[in-house]
Order: sequence, then structure tokens, then C-alpha cells
Amino acid sequence: MFRDTGLRDKVVVVTGGAAGIGRASALRFAEEGCRVAVWDLGEPGPLVEEMASLGGQGTFARVDVSNGEAVRAGVEEVVERWARIDILINNAGIVRDGQLVKWKDGAVASVLDDRAWDAVIGVNLKGVFLCTRAVVPHMIAGGGGVILNASSVVGLYGNFGQTNYTATKAGVIAMTQTWARELGKYKIRVNAVAPGFVATEIVKAMPEKVLAAMVEHTPVGRMGQPQDIAEAYLWLASDQAAFVHGTVLSVDGGLVPGT
Ligand code: NAI
Repeated sequence: MFRDTGLRDKVVVVTGGAAGIGRASALRFAEEGCRVAVWDLGEPGPLVEEMASLGGQGTFARVDVSNGEAVRAGVEEVVERWARIDILINNAGIVRDGQLVKWKDGAVASVLDDRAWDAVIGVNLKGVFLCTRAVVPHMIAGGGGVILNASSVVGLYGNFGQTNYTATKAGVIAMTQTWARELGKYKIRVNAVAPGFVATEIVKAMPEKVLAAMVEHTPVGRMGQPQDIAEAYLWLASDQAAFVHGTVLSVDGGLVPGT
């Protein structure tokens, strides 16, 4: 029997929604009849028109999630337009990979530098904190909401060359669990998604042989597509997931790192 997702007309904020998983998510929620505010620093192309053609309403704003003032202004703009925020998808993320210490010929060849550490922490961890802190009062005032955070399988298992990135993705899980405890009483559900390797720009930064190895260790035998993750976000935001709270949903084709 068909069951309504309860998502029609919901107001959704998708950070990092101009590309990749965020873009696919913005389009999927628009298709469900949501009003979707996309934040990004990159170019959205015809995204707003595409969201409208799918039956939703969409807007785009240039919001840097690592900048508290920009986030505050972004939230204000959404609330002025649509009077509420029901769903926040903390999707924006970057990588600046490098080994902690690279040792060659008896000496330090390179280290993961402070800039790479600060940049990734600023977007992937502080950005999630800033956006959630700014949105939650509006959810409480509106009687509830859903917060969805982008973690990663590497936040669960670690990954070579990703000290900074894995720290943020594990941190996102800890924040998800903490906010689940703090916000449940306000009818705000908080969950994280841990994607496996998904075919977007972010993974193009990885060496070809690392990606090939990942596919080899993925039982379904392929990389994920942005739409695979969008569907997980959609379900977690829906009424069908009303009792799912404080969890991390792996969407990874069964990837078993280290095997
Ligand atoms: P992507 O690189 O295709 O898209 C990320 C978007 O975030 C871009 O449009 C970028 O402009 C935007 N962005 C970057 N910094 C920003 C900032 N300061 N403020 C606002 N927007 C900003 O990345 P992808 O692959 O779609 O990843 C989305 C999320 O999923 C990220 O958090 C990523 O860490 C996570 N993830 C991705 C996986 C993958 O294999 N692609 C695997 C596991 C997690």
C-alpha cells in the first residue's frame, strides 16, 4: 500500500548542494514536493530551474558553512522566505589529503600541514556545528525537525592519508549522537549517513588504484552513485523513519574496509 512520506512542502536546507551528493539530494527532495534552499560556494548551474521542473521549489544562496556570520544570514533568508526550517542536510565537505608524516630516505619528506588540517576541520566539522546551531532554534519553535549529517565509512574505520578528514567524519558521528540526546525531546530527529565511495568530484582526488581497490572490496561490485545517498537521506527524513534517531546508516554497497 502507498504510504505518504510526509515530506510535501517541508522546508529543507542542503549545504554543499551545488554538486555531487548534495545536488542529487536537493533534486530528490524537490521531486518529493519540498521547498529546498541550497547553499554552496560553487556554481549551481540550472539547479533552481531543475528543482522547479520536478515539482518542488528551490533557491540557491552562496553560503560558506565554515563562516558563522554567513550561516546566520543564510538561515535568516530561508526563514524570511518560508517562515520555517524542517530539515537540515549537513552535506558540505572537502578533502585535503596527506600522510601525517611521510618518511623517505631516512628523513621527513612531508607532513600533513596545519592549513590542510584547519581547512577540513573548518568545513566538515565546524560547518556542521555552525549550521545546526543556527537552525535548531527554528526547528524547536516550529515543533520539530530532522537533522541529517554526512559522515563516511572512513569515519568508522579510518583511512590512509586522511587524518584530518577521518577526524571530522568520526566527529560528525559523535555530534549526531550528542544532539540525538539533547534534541529528541523537541521532536528533532538526528541521524548520520556513512556513504562508501561515491562517484563525485571529491573522490576524483583519490589515486586510481585506491578507487579500484575500493570497488574490489565492495560486495555489490560498483561505486555508489549520488542518488544512492539521496535516497537514504529521503528515507531518514520521512515519516517512515519516525523512530530512527541517533544512528549512523552505512550506505556503502557492503564495503568492508581492510579485507
Ligand atoms: P562534492 O565535492 O561533489 O560536493 C561537495 C560540495 O560542497 C561542493 O559543491 C562544494 O562547493 C561544497 N562546499 C565545499 N566547501 C563548502 C563550504 N565551505 N560551504 C558551502 N559549501 C561548500 O562532494 P560529495 O562527494 O558530493 O560529498 C558530499 C558529502 O558526502 C561530503 O561531506 C563528503 O565528505 C561526504 N562523503 C562523500 C563520499 C564520496 O565518496 N563522494 C563518501 C563519504 C562521504
